[in-house]
Amino acid sequence: MTTALLDGRVALVTGGARGIGLAVATTLHALGASVVIADAGVGIGGDDADPDVAARAASALGERAASFAGDLAEPGNAEAAVALALERFGAIDLVVNNAAILRDGFIFKTRRDDWQRVLEVNLHAPLAVLAAATPAMRDQAKAGRAPGRIVNVVSSAGLVGNFAQSAYASAKAGLVGLTRVVAMDLVRSGILCNAVAPFAATRVTGSIQPANDAQAEYKDRALRIPPAYVARLIAFLVSPANGFTGQIFGVRGREVFLFSQARPVARAVSETLDRQDALALGGLLEAEFAERTTDLSTDLELFNTEPLL
Ligand SMILES: NC(=O)c1ccc[n+]([C@@H]2O[C@H](COP(=O)([O-])OP(=O)(O)OC[C@H]3O[C@@H](n4cnc5c(N)ncnc54)[C@H](O)[C@@H]3O)[C@@H](O)[C@H]2O)c1
Repeated sequence: MTTALLDGRVALVTGGARGIGLAVATTLHALGASVVIADAGVGIGGDDADPDVAARAASALGERAASFAGDLAEPGNAEAAVALALERFGAIDLVVNNAAILRDGFIFKTRRDDWQRVLEVNLHAPLAVLAAATPAMRDQAKAGRAPGRIVNVVSSAGLVGNFAQSAYASAKAGLVGLTRVVAMDLVRSGILCNAVAPFAATRVTGSIQPANDAQAEYKDRALRIPPAYVARLIAFLVSPANGFTGQIFGVRGREVFLFSQARPVARAVSETLDRQDALALGGLLEAEFAERTTDLSTDLELFNTEPLL
């Protein structure tokens, strides 16, 4: 009898009832995992929760699937979703933090409640899920179970930037930082944690309001990329075969990217500290750094190539 890649593993997929999350839940399930779909069934901006969305997605998977419809940004719900995995399937091995919302607006029109809600859903909720899941994951590893795997779904917007996405980009950049620290904190337990920046057709891609021609072209192209490519990469990263940790991947159809991570790329050393010397420092920086700075291309412009499908 052959065994599937994820046989016997228990996965929690947040935002697993739609778009990329649904593709991930379906793929992990098809590869043998039991899956908890945690999804509040909200609109793109996080409103109008519908508890049937998660239940329908789980029942379409059939056996080895359960649903949790609570808002993961509400206190206690991340813990309850993890508890459901432990109660129903006896373990928690794989966590995919995928749920996110979008509330765009230029910085000069920022509304504090939008900022707060985006940070709560896109950054605080993943932290709460990991804080709830990792004690059990460590105990399981100590007891001899194959160590778990974590994937945080981030965005090129948080790595590169995009117009009017201050809250979204900040939350996703925060999730990259969280990924690094979680990878460090868990490496001794053998538990691995990576970030994936996806490109795929979902209702969110469909809602992009292009700010220029390059962005309009990007949207057309993105709408041709099935989310199954993202699911395949995540299935590998949560499998026992994966040895990467603390890395940032991108996936766009058949292309998979490994992102660089912020490290000093140039160094300038001044001779002395003289408070009158700011201009002289500027001259030094101009000489040493001018060729090495990062331009203001948006993520949509940077990844505006023909998708390979
Ligand atoms: N689609 C893309 O090309 C793209 C690009 C970059 C990043 N991403 C990221 O990929 C992930 C999935 O995006 P998508 O396009 O499939 O989005 P989507 O809106 O289609 O799906 C997100 C799901 O998360 C759920 N959700 C949102 N807030 C929740 C909450 N508080 N509690 C529980 N569930 C909640 C929603 O109900 C929804 O089903 C997100 O993290 C997104 O930021 C997507």
